[in-house]
Amino acid sequence: MTDEKIIHMDMGASGTAARGTVCLGVESSCDETSAAIVDSNKNILAHIIYSQIPEHQKYGGVVPELAARAHILAIDTVIHETLNRANMTIDDIDVIAATAGPGLIGGVLVGWMAATGIAQSTGKPLVAVNHLEGHALVPRLAAATADNSAAPVTVEFPYLLMLASGGHCQILLVRGVGKYDLIGQTLDDSAGEAFDKVSKMLGLGYPGGPIVDRRAALGNPCAFDFPRPLCDKPGCDFSFSGIKTAARTFLSRTPAPWSDEFINDFCASFQAAVVDCIINRLGHAMKSDVVLNAKPKTLVVAGGVAKNSAIRNAMERLAHEHNMIFAAPPMSLCTDNGAMIAWAGLENYKIGNVVREPIAPRPRWPLTEL
Ligand code: KG4
Ligand code: ZN
Repeated sequence: MTDEKIIHMDMGASGTAARGTVCLGVESSCDETSAAIVDSNKNILAHIIYSQIPEHQKYGGVVPELAARAHILAIDTVIHETLNRANMTIDDIDVIAATAGPGLIGGVLVGWMAATGIAQSTGKPLVAVNHLEGHALVPRLAAATADNSAAPVTVEFPYLLMLASGGHCQILLVRGVGKYDLIGQTLDDSAGEAFDKVSKMLGLGYPGGPIVDRRAALGNPCAFDFPRPLCDKPGCDFSFSGIKTAARTFLSRTPAPWSDEFINDFCASFQAAVVDCIINRLGHAMKSDVVLNAKPKTLVVAGGVAKNSAIRNAMERLAHEHNMIFAAPPMSLCTDNGAMIAWAGLENYKIGNVVREPIAPRPRWPLTEL
């Protein structure tokens, strides 16, 4: 691993404020090896994300075996460098947390075993973090409005969450740490997967979300008539495979090479369909009994797809129409990162949720099974 591949992101106070409980969090469930030191006063004391994206780009997606090997090569350096940047040794850490699933199991095992080794050799408490709970709780560490320009937003339980990542697409009522009601979910692809696949069809590269997002900003969202699957049906579930099939059909009618204008219009029209589906399903969720009874004050988006500004803006409008506050994590905390794992570690530690006997990391681990 070369130095330039490491992204340094220290964002909180640098140790002058009262620290509270200090957690070292480790994330390795997909293609980012990341560690962070976060305290219970919401300071991110050090944060390093080593992205493997360049290693997977030539294959058009994450290759699990390559990812696991890259995690092995990176994990020690990432953890050491995180401690160095916080000007700390392991003695300064109160709690260790690591992703124990769901995710690519080879990668999960690397981070989990590293964290377990540190916890066992130091006698420090260890928290097994569900990766999805990392995404779900990180808005409580840091969140703002859609364009990140206004004052920070404090996210209190209960809140209504749109969790959209590469592997998942779910609407959840978050009632507390470990307390999730699943309101809707995708029946096939996740939203992130749809972005990635459309980008691949257009030959634009991996990961597709940010590329399609950029191209969409330059195009006409009405140029192609993409379907809005399930939007005429009751309920809160999603289906993105119909949008993907429509994309393939449109492209087969217009053989490559495509002009920049064609690609921009295509991306804008596809993205508009995804946005409409998310807003339609969230609108139904807001009228469901479970949400009406819980009366959440905040509508939150999290996961890698939460970086999408069209989705953030449309969700903010929806929230305001329903007299709700809208909150999204800062861009750097949307895609996979160690700070969200450290924060979920702290939230779980606070309620005594620590590992008391050896556990097996889980490739599948729904939030409703916490
Ligand atoms: O949460 P994440 O980092 O990994 C998983 O846990 O899956 O999410 C990655 C996903 C990818 O599918 C990527 O294309 C998507 O997030 N993504 C975006 C944007 N940035 C990342 N999708 C839409 N618009 C974006 N700006
Ligand atoms: Zn993720």
